[in-house]
Amino acid sequence: MDIRDAMEIDAPGILRIYNDAVEHTTAIWNDQPSSLEARIAWLKERQQSGYPVIVAADGPDILGYGSFGAFRPWDGYRHTVEHSVYVDGAVRRMGIGHALMDRLVARARGMSKHVMVAGIEATNEPSLRLHARLGFIQVGHLRSVGRKFDRWLDLIFMQLVLGSEAAAGFSLEVVALPIAASLRFQNNRLASFGRLFGAERPRPSLFVGTPSSRWRDFVTVVTISCRIGRVR
Ligand SMILES: CC(C)(COP(=O)(O)OP(=O)(O)OC[C@H]1O[C@@H](n2cnc3c(N)ncnc32)[C@H](O)[C@@H]1OP(=O)(O)O)[C@@H](O)C(=O)NCCC(=O)NCCS
Repeated sequence: MDIRDAMEIDAPGILRIYNDAVEHTTAIWNDQPSSLEARIAWLKERQQSGYPVIVAADGPDILGYGSFGAFRPWDGYRHTVEHSVYVDGAVRRMGIGHALMDRLVARARGMSKHVMVAGIEATNEPSLRLHARLGFIQVGHLRSVGRKFDRWLDLIFMQLVLGSEAAAGFSLEVVALPIAASLRFQNNRLASFGRLFGAERPRPSLFVGTPSSRWRDFVTVVTISCRIGRVR
């Protein structure tokens, strides 16, 4: 099996898997099957927008496909993408969905995207488990927002944060708060000590206090710098 970028020649295979999902699953909330022309147009539109459409292929046979595109069409969402992944019913539970997702995550990282979002119908256990296995976490549950097969459908949002901003920001706070408190305490201590002898309040400086605490502050500042350096 090969995972590669989709070509127009793959459109019939993509169409077959897509229409099977339309007719038999709640993975796609459409009632009407799509056409070859519509799938080709979708493929071209994705590719022209710079988004990937990938297929899992065994020779000429398309076993599955995946893609992502803009999450929402406004500027502020440009670092977030929403993806979809479909595997032929005959070859499910053989690792193809996982392999496609691994590739989509790598492509999103390669495009410096920050977050991937999956919108999953709430009873779609295979997809929920697949995404949980990949590190996605559930972040939302919209109730009864869809309808198919004569029943209301809930939509679960799962997301994967790809960028390092969140982690670095947290670490920065964790490291910065103790150093700020430590500097203020040491500065005040020095000032009180100085005032005993009628000295002016010393000008605030970064490294104050005993040699050992200066060394600790130096290490902390270096740590902060390294963490800031990791933020993309
Ligand atoms: C969801 C889907 C893409 C999974 O593809 P797949 O190739 O069958 O999945 P994989 O074999 O790679 O399985 C990866 C993991 O997903 C989970 N999983 C997949 N199928 C599952 C099932 N039937 N029951 C429970 N967990 C399942 C498991 O955690 C599995 O890991 P494991 O086998 O080591 O336990 C596939 O079932 C599918 O195409 N479904 C219809 C379309 C769809 O729902 N797409 C997602 C829309 S959000």
